[in-house]
Amino acid sequence: MAGSGSGGTGRVAGGKSRFDDIYDRPDPRAYFTRLAPLEYEIPHQAQPVFRQVAAERAALDDGHSRRPAVLDVCCSYGINAALLNHDVTLAEMYERYTSPDCQKMSTAELAARDKEFYAERRRPDALPVFGLDVAGLAVHYALEVGLLDAAFTDDLEQGSPSPRLRRALAEVGLITLTGGGSYITARTLTALLDGARRPVWVSAFVLRTVSYHPIVQALAAHGLSTTVDVARTYPQRLFTDEREQEYAIVAVRALGGDPTGREENGRFHSLHYESRPDTR
Ligand SMILES: C[S@@+](CC[C@H](N)C(=O)[O-])C[C@H]1O[C@@H](n2cnc3c(N)ncnc32)[C@H](O)[C@@H]1O
Repeated sequence: MAGSGSGGTGRVAGGKSRFDDIYDRPDPRAYFTRLAPLEYEIPHQAQPVFRQVAAERAALDDGHSRRPAVLDVCCSYGINAALLNHDVTLAEMYERYTSPDCQKMSTAELAARDKEFYAERRRPDALPVFGLDVAGLAVHYALEVGLLDAAFTDDLEQGSPSPRLRRALAEVGLITLTGGGSYITARTLTALLDGARRPVWVSAFVLRTVSYHPIVQALAAHGLSTTVDVARTYPQRLFTDEREQEYAIVAVRALGGDPTGREENGRFHSLHYESRPDTR
């Protein structure tokens, strides 16, 4: 095993620490407990952006009577769905899932409490949210507590969408992504857009260590143009150790970014890419 590092994050692949062991648990406690010391915050950074873009997309008359669904890719335990559709903050979710009280509960008890917790905080403008993630237990939890309206575990890096996902794609008007830019490629986005039946916008937060260019090209092939403000970066999380930081600094520079004041100060940063149908 290479470099477990101070964050206790398991093996390191390509320089970035991996957290595979917390992605597919029966409930989100290990996820929040592990990521709290690393101050993982990209869903919090994305929350106002996703709310805004979801509202704009929902206001678009695309000739369909049903409101467009949001598809959160790499949705995990439904965190972006929670933040989009409920009056809750990521800080409250950290507090909830790392609290001593919460540690004493069984998964079934936690799920029952969560169902009530999110139902009480449901926003009137809530949109249907579908989740896609290869982590079956995680999406099952999100579905059970009412954060997701439908969940899919298709690995579109390896294969084609199932008939059930294909049917769901017909309803999708917005794709969101946080924390998944290192896991999925243009293959996943191409498969999703091939199945779209309504205009689909894509709003993605991707680490500056990863090139989004192949996805931008795949989206362009589906008639979407992408904008990004490279001067505006969003902190994602602390590095687990110096080795991860060195990797990130080199990777950011290789992609033409400047790590000064950002990765050099100890955190991964993401860019926000927004893709909408090309109206030219
Ligand atoms: C860092 S987590 C991000 C979770 C959540 N979006 C957030 O920001 O808190 C990355 C997620 O990507 C998922 N993932 C990895 N490979 C995937 C794939 N090929 N398709 C869909 N999800 C994948 C993992 O299971 C994991 O839940």
